[in-house]
Amino acid sequence: MRGLELVFFAILLVLATLQVAISHGEQPLSRIAVHNTRLRLSENADIRASPSILGLKGQNSEWVTLEYASPNPSNDDWIGVFSPADFSASTCNPDEGSKQSPPFLCTAPIKYQYANYSSPGYRKEGKGSLRLQLINQRSDFSFVLFSGGLANVVAVSNKVAFTNPNAPVYPRLAQGKMWNEMTVTWTSGYGINEAEPFVEWGRKDGDLMRSPAGTLTFNRNSMCGAPARTVGWRDPGFIHTSFLKELWPNSVYTYKLGHKLFNGTYVWSQVYQFRASPYPGQSSVQRVVIFGDMGKDEADGSNEYNNYQRGSLNTTKQLIEDLKNIDIVFHIGDICYANGYLSQWDQFTAQVEPIASTVPYMIASGNHERDWPGTGSFYGNSDSGGECGVLAETMFYVPAENRAKFWYSTDYGMFRFCIADTEHDWREGTEQYKFIEHCLASADRQKQPWLIFLAHRVLGYSSGTWYAEEGSFEEPMGRESLQKLWQKYKVDIAMYGHVHNYERTCPIYQNICTSKEKFYYKGTLNGTIHVVAGGGGASLADFTPINTTWSYFKDHDYGFVKLTAFDHSNLLFEYKKSRDGKVYDSFKISRDYRDILACTVDSCPSMTLAS
Ligand SMILES: [Fe+2]
Repeated sequence: MRGLELVFFAILLVLATLQVAISHGEQPLSRIAVHNTRLRLSENADIRASPSILGLKGQNSEWVTLEYASPNPSNDDWIGVFSPADFSASTCNPDEGSKQSPPFLCTAPIKYQYANYSSPGYRKEGKGSLRLQLINQRSDFSFVLFSGGLANVVAVSNKVAFTNPNAPVYPRLAQGKMWNEMTVTWTSGYGINEAEPFVEWGRKDGDLMRSPAGTLTFNRNSMCGAPARTVGWRDPGFIHTSFLKELWPNSVYTYKLGHKLFNGTYVWSQVYQFRASPYPGQSSVQRVVIFGDMGKDEADGSNEYNNYQRGSLNTTKQLIEDLKNIDIVFHIGDICYANGYLSQWDQFTAQVEPIASTVPYMIASGNHERDWPGTGSFYGNSDSGGECGVLAETMFYVPAENRAKFWYSTDYGMFRFCIADTEHDWREGTEQYKFIEHCLASADRQKQPWLIFLAHRVLGYSSGTWYAEEGSFEEPMGRESLQKLWQKYKVDIAMYGHVHNYERTCPIYQNICTSKEKFYYKGTLNGTIHVVAGGGGASLADFTPINTTWSYFKDHDYGFVKLTAFDHSNLLFEYKKSRDGKVYDSFKISRDYRDILACTVDSCPSMTLAS
């Protein structure tokens, strides 16, 4: 009975945390009345899951079928998925949790669904079945039926587990600090005291070699607050990064993840492949996809905390379908919206695996990765759910000097990308401002004519409702100090997320369009084109009804941007909707590199509104 009491108190706490989650979008279980919570385990209730062993053929994602029965069924009955399967309070950290008396539940359900979701007769018959998709994430699972009132546990299922829960999974590529270096980051359950992690790789049809990987992890105390430190905490396992060096430009490589256990046996992932990046300045067709705010969603229709990225599965699907025509991806902040429910990072890395294991998946930091009061973020809000950047800085590699300061530059052939970190101060006089100027100034435009500035919050221009109401049409203090850099170094395009829609401006400087052309730019732009590409998947944001002269195209829908550099003189910009992958806005730039050389002190044109 003691165990049941633990569950009971645990559920109370979970339900309390649901209150936080309901403030965002759809949460079907938001109607749970916490004050009505009662314990009513029933001998006549039952829930069973099958199969109980998953991944027999090496899969890291599989469907399970649940069969369940309750003597007092209702339309509010629901099923929670718990992992680890043993979710009693015995594993709780007594220092964490709410101010209520222990025992606490250590983990929130990783996802949940109504009992009648796929069994319309459940309420009458008291029987139902449900199919759910599970991913391999280092632990076993159990399923809990809540019936006869939203907060009554009536049955707990058998345990379900993958054959090897520790298996190396979800590789994500990222460009290294050198142009000819690819980094591979993955997750496993093997610490450095159990196995040596490495990547076995080589050119297609060539010899294979092995490169060692570093291993990182963190603990509950690395989190800055709840829910990441409390019910949202879940052991992250181990995150490994290997550096594959001296790659041949554009060559195709195969690779697989390995762990050599200390008993001499090996554990392997499946085989993946990627194409090495071009030499900076190299002329070849280069295709770049950019978007922000994608998040993740459950393919089985179930819900989880912060479940408001309904567009994300479509975006992911379009990118996978077009993957042969994509060379590198930039996801510019608001990566997975785990917001302190750590299990969701596994889910996100599983969702993007087909993309991130094949092309470099470069990320920027957003408010949902970083912001937490009193932790050095520029904004003192709680958008990261207590993660305060630790998850983003560990789960993905970026070639930053200091991964906690999330700004970096990276080259891809004829492109130079300068990625800013809007969750740290960017204004003149800061460390980041110096970096941005250096990144822009050090691009050799004869070799790298396409200079792109990326950041999460809109430092340029946006007609998003909130910015318009503020009267700023930008993140407050966004462009004041940066626009002279964009202008001086002739940045072609500046792109942002954060506002969940699509918008493109004219080439612009200090609120004034520097060209009236909309679709085909020849020669210098005289300004920078600003683009919001925040429609990756999170619930859409409205535009102000105010029309500005600088806003050339607005779309209240999910989508992403694709840039294609054909050569040093021709760039194609396309905006595609996630629903069909078709192009809904586009423009071209054709020009010579001489048009875009940075001016020197005496040759700079006047840069005031009057000019
Ligand atoms: Fe954001």
